[in-house]
Amino acid sequence: MAEAQGTNRKLMRVLSGEAVSPPPAWMMRQAGRYLPEYRATRAEAGSFLDLCYSPDFAVEVTLQPIRRFGFDAAILFSDILVVPHALGQDVRFVEGEGPRLDPMTGRAAFERLKRADDPAVLAHLAPVFETVGRLRAELPAETTLLGFCGAPWTVASYMIGGRGTPDLAPARALAEGDTALVDALIDRLVAVQTAYLIRQLRAGADAVQIFESHAGTLPRALPRPGDATDPVEPVGDVTESALPAEASEDAPEDALTRWSLRPIARMIAGVRAEVPDARIIVFARGSGLDGHARVVPETGADAVGVDWGVDLAALRARVPASTVTQGNLHPETLIAGGDALDAEVDAILRATVAVPHIFNLGHGITPQTPVAHVERMLARLRG
Ligand code: CP3
Repeated sequence: MAEAQGTNRKLMRVLSGEAVSPPPAWMMRQAGRYLPEYRATRAEAGSFLDLCYSPDFAVEVTLQPIRRFGFDAAILFSDILVVPHALGQDVRFVEGEGPRLDPMTGRAAFERLKRADDPAVLAHLAPVFETVGRLRAELPAETTLLGFCGAPWTVASYMIGGRGTPDLAPARALAEGDTALVDALIDRLVAVQTAYLIRQLRAGADAVQIFESHAGTLPRALPRPGDATDPVEPVGDVTESALPAEASEDAPEDALTRWSLRPIARMIAGVRAEVPDARIIVFARGSGLDGHARVVPETGADAVGVDWGVDLAALRARVPASTVTQGNLHPETLIAGGDALDAEVDAILRATVAVPHIFNLGHGITPQTPVAHVERMLARLRG
């Protein structure tokens, strides 16, 4: 956790609610294929997972964008899918295609996963904690170190679908069918990842980010108990009439609440029970203006990561001035560069005058982004 010197870290000051100008900056996926030095280390390390589990290589690629650009934060180099891997699911990264997992299609596959309290799970992740510890020792004192994990729904959607299919149809289908199984998987991920974040913070991370990259793929509504389409069997003699009146008369439960915001809130409460001053950012991509506005009040996060689809000025007008926001620059604008890039940097600064904001993209930087455009963005920002 942040020691006394941590208070000098610009990004940590913003996470405590201070408006800092110009805002501290980092980029999602800042260690990645757009950097020639990343591609070189990646080739040396072997597979992508070898890179994630080798502290020497993982420390090196985490530091590369800090050396080159002097970002205010370094983010641990790893992946959200090391957690399903630690639970015993087969995970591989196919060159040019992204992640592949053995799809968890039903209860039998769920039963084969390791339990949350199995010591083998965190033991599998020990290289990650070693990487975090070494990073904190090697980073400049003013640089914030961020740990991270995926939000339960996002990780579950990969575990169920086996890949990031465009609309995550398999995960949605299971969510609309065997809701109890999805609940069980989410519960397992809440427990494991709460412990995972606590260990990252204890190993030296100053703050952590929870990536809900697939919030936009949640089913819009959940079937109500008693709906003709609801395949969940009533338990014992509990019938619809035995349920509270609201359960059958209210609007269908909102899936964003049940499988995203509430599980994230449980993780945050669990982390703070062990690390009371833990600082936590939640990135809820695809949840819309309304979803973004709900993140801080409904999860207890310190900051909301804003995707590029949301109008930042409109979001700032909806939330209290004290809300900490992060992100929003369109990764495509960074590829385009030039005047369009300058204009978008300026618009973000105008939307966040005198309020706490962390400069970032609205999703990860893509491999085809010219390094010179990142330099231009930072020059514009820093004035
Ligand atoms: O941001 C950073 O620099 C830290 C490292 C980081 C990676 N993945 C490295 C990575 C972080 C924070 C992640 C999170 C992650 N992983 C997310 C959430 C953020 C988001 O982008 O929405 C998701 C959904 C994943 C799953 C994942 N991992 C996908 C879909 C892919 C393939 C995409 C691609 O660009 O190929 C990965 C692979 C991956 N994770 C790469 C990197 C640098 C590229 C792999 C390579 O180098 O070959």
